[in-house]
Amino acid sequence: MPKYNILLTASEVAPFAKTGGLADVAGALPKALKTLGHDVRVVMPRYYIIDKEKYGLQKLEGALSVHMGIMGEKFCAVYEGTIPNSSVPIYFIEYEEYFGRRGLYNSEDGSGYRDNDNRFIFFSKATMQLAKKLHFHPDVIHANDWHTAAVPLLLNTHYAFDPLFSNTGSLLSIHNLEHQGKFYKGAMDVLGVGWEHFKANELEEYDGINLLKGGIVHADAINAVSQKYAQEIRTSEFGFGLEQLINHHEYKLHGILNGVDYDEWSPEIDTLIESNFSAESLEGKAICKQALQKSFGLEQREDVALIGLVGRLAEQKGIGLIAGAIDTLLAIDIQIILLGTGEKWAESFFREKAEANAHKFACYIGYDNTLAHQIEAGSDMFLMPSLFEPCGLNQIYSLRYGTLPIVRATGGLDDTIENYDTYSKSGTGFKFYEASADALTNTVAWAVNVFYNDKEGFYALIQNAMAKRYEWSGAAKAYEELYSSIIEGRKN
Ligand code: ADP
Ligand code: GLC
Repeated sequence: MPKYNILLTASEVAPFAKTGGLADVAGALPKALKTLGHDVRVVMPRYYIIDKEKYGLQKLEGALSVHMGIMGEKFCAVYEGTIPNSSVPIYFIEYEEYFGRRGLYNSEDGSGYRDNDNRFIFFSKATMQLAKKLHFHPDVIHANDWHTAAVPLLLNTHYAFDPLFSNTGSLLSIHNLEHQGKFYKGAMDVLGVGWEHFKANELEEYDGINLLKGGIVHADAINAVSQKYAQEIRTSEFGFGLEQLINHHEYKLHGILNGVDYDEWSPEIDTLIESNFSAESLEGKAICKQALQKSFGLEQREDVALIGLVGRLAEQKGIGLIAGAIDTLLAIDIQIILLGTGEKWAESFFREKAEANAHKFACYIGYDNTLAHQIEAGSDMFLMPSLFEPCGLNQIYSLRYGTLPIVRATGGLDDTIENYDTYSKSGTGFKFYEASADALTNTVAWAVNVFYNDKEGFYALIQNAMAKRYEWSGAAKAYEELYSSIIEGRKN
């Protein structure tokens, strides 16, 4: 396999700034690509929260000029660092007016910043300008979600005759189709690619601009983060209005399941949990469970089924189903621990439920990586009843910790979890299909029943789950293949 120059652009990259799995992917995939020998570079905005000293970021000489259409020329600084535990260079676009704020996308009240169109058009253009500044000739630019979806469009228009990009191809990864970057059409004048691109099969939607649409049309290839999700987004149930467009571009649609970072998420070496453990010796897991119950003020019972939940409290994650099921669930002899932030109604709903049922339901409204690890390690089961889930990482972490996932069979959840088969004792978790509180309740009741009454089966599931691996090295090879086909396609 030839070695490529790859420029990956993303609005968030772990550990620098993260709101969800996109950051995990943007932080881990480049490392795996580097291991395969490619020259991969990453670019992201330098948000106010990113501590330059902590990460030893160095300012590059000179400024980057970014042409913002009718807003004129803007000049920004670039900082360089490396992704921790790797030699992957990462560049930070610093522009106080757009990124010198507390949030990545939203203000304190949870609403999106009103100038998100300008912020991410700016960042997409800065990505292109950065390559020029570095004299880095990318074979492929890899864009992610709507924030950087303008990049393939810019490549095909504004930069079409730029010799630096003469053979550059583009890939757009779709991590979540719900968010598309829809704005007032005035953003066309900032994008500055010409109003001829403002049409229904390109950037226009209901007389506004849709940046993701532009990316889907212009990218040489698009991929969803699981095979199942790549199929689902072609239907009206999951397409968020873009299913027809996606079907039209079906010939360039791929599905590549994310990997997970097992350096971070393995019970044998995890430094954030009470006691390490492995499939061969599970005593440490019992210690983790006890410590978890203690820290959340629950009764320290080894025999009770403990169910964990970690994630954004967004409709996508099935919080409506959980809310509908919670009273029935709390009537069973179980304990539930929830960690998450998001929708205000959900935060207060679950907080109040926990106060009223303090002996069996605990929740922590907030973002806390250490607690996330401790919940993965100490729970018996992990609940993820998403309405849709492009890939999902927590269920994969759960497998590794022998914490059996209870999931709705959608997207990456369906691709990664195999349902329990009572007869053959095969499977890695418990699945349900219908998006209803009843289906959720029944499946939790089934899983809990296996926990209490089919100990042999439950133990077999733990062993099956802990043996599963979704390594980045495998996913990176799939990306490598895809890059290669993009590059070949460009040549022809
Ligand atoms: P999504 O990207 O849709 O939020 P994923 O499952 O792909 O879902 O990734 C979520 C990531 O964010 C995981 O690494 C998970 O541990 C982390 N995470 C989500 N919410 C929290 C939280 N409240 N505290 C700590 N980590 C969280
Ligand atoms: C999105 C999806 C999630 C996926 C992550 C990383 O945030 O909601 O399912 O795992 O992106 O690709």
